[in-house]
Amino acid sequence: MPDFVPVAKLSDIADPGKLLAEVDEQLVVVIRVGDAVYCIDDVCTHDGGPLSDGELDVAGCSLACPRHGAKFDIKTGAALTMPATKATRAHEAKVVDGQVLVRLNDA
Ligand code: FES
Repeated sequence: MPDFVPVAKLSDIADPGKLLAEVDEQLVVVIRVGDAVYCIDDVCTHDGGPLSDGELDVAGCSLACPRHGAKFDIKTGAALTMPATKATRAHEAKVVDGQVLVRLNDA
């Protein structure tokens, strides 16, 4: 299992907000809501849209793909709305001493 990798300071991410990061050569989106952080792939499962450019809906706990609007659960990566039908990968994210750490989910 990969190690946790530092990607940013929590204070460098807007609240609420998101940040594109690269972990082990993979692009991921780190999402901040208050002191909580989440991480999902920067890839929409519909047609590869960059989720980091999408709209964050804190109340709905979702991030919308900027291409055709599919929404993904920021905690689980689950596809919530069409046209996406498959989940994008979710990764472990945590904050330690103000630093955001991410561990990739290999699955
Ligand atoms: S590429 Fe994301 S909804 Fe189509």
